[in-house]
Amino acid sequence: GQKQSATEEPEEIDEGAVLVAKVEDFKTSKKLRTTVNDREIVVFHHLGKHHALDLRCYHSGGPLHLGEIEDIDGRACVICPWHKFKIVLESGEGLYQGVDPREPKRTKKWFSKGVKQRTHKVTVRNGGVYVTLSDTSTMWCDSDTYAKEKFIDQPCPD
Ligand code: FES
Repeated sequence: GQKQSATEEPEEIDEGAVLVAKVEDFKTSKKLRTTVNDREIVVFHHLGKHHALDLRCYHSGGPLHLGEIEDIDGRACVICPWHKFKIVLESGEGLYQGVDPREPKRTKKWFSKGVKQRTHKVTVRNGGVYVTLSDTSTMWCDSDTYAKEKFIDQPCPD
């Protein structure tokens, strides 16, 4: 068989890391919906890497665990099923397509709006997948709006 190119085997697990799944859970589904310390999270397994993000889209709270993964300009993105916003798995950046007015040909290109969706650290150890929530006090992310308690009480449509 083929050799797995990307391996994740970090040394240590953070103190606040929470076990959310086993590595083998991603054999049947490439995404997993979970809750870490009352925060709704989606974990994607894409091209040998795990990515954890806030579950509800920064735009209007759409269910990202129901989104498809697409390659946009060489970056793996989840496409929100509600209004098709594109979010980079690795960074949580929102991408949009536009025209650079300085460019004479006016071809459409992809631009970043900056980090919009909060990402969380994933650690894989001994067959377990752990998520460490990122520190919400150091930086605001638009997705924080939908990660609050009042939204948690509402079932995510799926
Ligand atoms: Fe995700 Fe609108 S809620 S694109």
